[in-house]
Amino acid sequence: MTNIILLGPPGAGKGTQARRLVEERGLVQLSTGDMLREARDSGTPMGKRVAEVMARGDLVTDEIVIGLIEEKLKSEKARGFIFDGFPRTLAQADALNSLLNRAGQRIDAVIELRVDDEALIDRISGRYTCADCGEVYHDRTRPTKVPGVCDKCGSHDLRRRADDNAESLRQRLMEYYKKTSPLIGYYYALGDLFVVDGLASIEDVAKAIDNVLDQALAG
Ligand code: AP5
Repeated sequence: MTNIILLGPPGAGKGTQARRLVEERGLVQLSTGDMLREARDSGTPMGKRVAEVMARGDLVTDEIVIGLIEEKLKSEKARGFIFDGFPRTLAQADALNSLLNRAGQRIDAVIELRVDDEALIDRISGRYTCADCGEVYHDRTRPTKVPGVCDKCGSHDLRRRADDNAESLRQRLMEYYKKTSPLIGYYYALGDLFVVDGLASIEDVAKAIDNVLDQALAG
């Protein structure tokens, strides 16, 4: 089993790199953001409860997201998982450790995508996503080959996220620095942290992640 955490602020490129790792390494992506958006859009009682929280850019409660991850770990059969956007608090990190321990597994590498706030604003404001297959694009750095058509699945349903606005982004960043960035020290102390320059091109970030994984998985 190979278990990887992608850590970084909103817009750092976690989703973009996670999708590539799924294709190239046959791992399963567990994105709590995607799970929560699915619950919100399907109007489940939990989805209704989290919709406002997400729109504001606040974190959803630990109880809800840990529950979502626990369910997926039980139901998905995989060679390993890429945790994208989870854990985001120390309580979530502790819960993940316990869940993996119980299954006789561990985290192999925590990859921090390091970027600066200026770049994040540009990335978030230019992002759009395919509503059908989830492929992530950017107006300038990664546009679709044919305008308005997803390269991957041919869908014409390309959307911008409701929380990708200046006010919500400010709050998402605040939440990141207050509650998630302490995880950098936590995983450093455990000896699991690898830092990658997230400001490089998508291809160069991918290469750096591959180098980290070769190193971490060999050790
Ligand atoms: P979530 O969906 O996880 O959003 P996020 O962490 O804010 O991260 P993003 O999806 O915005 O960015 P990303 O790092 O994946 O970047 P991407 O690859 O898209 O969470 C949303 C909300 O759900 C949270 O605010 C919270 O309310 C809730 N939530 C989720 N998980 C939770 C948890 N565990 N606990 C509590 N609440 C939770 O890239 C961004 C753009 O940049 C794209 O356009 C892309 O094409 C472009 N790009 C990517 N890499 C590069 C590059 N190297 N160079 C140039 N452009 C690039």
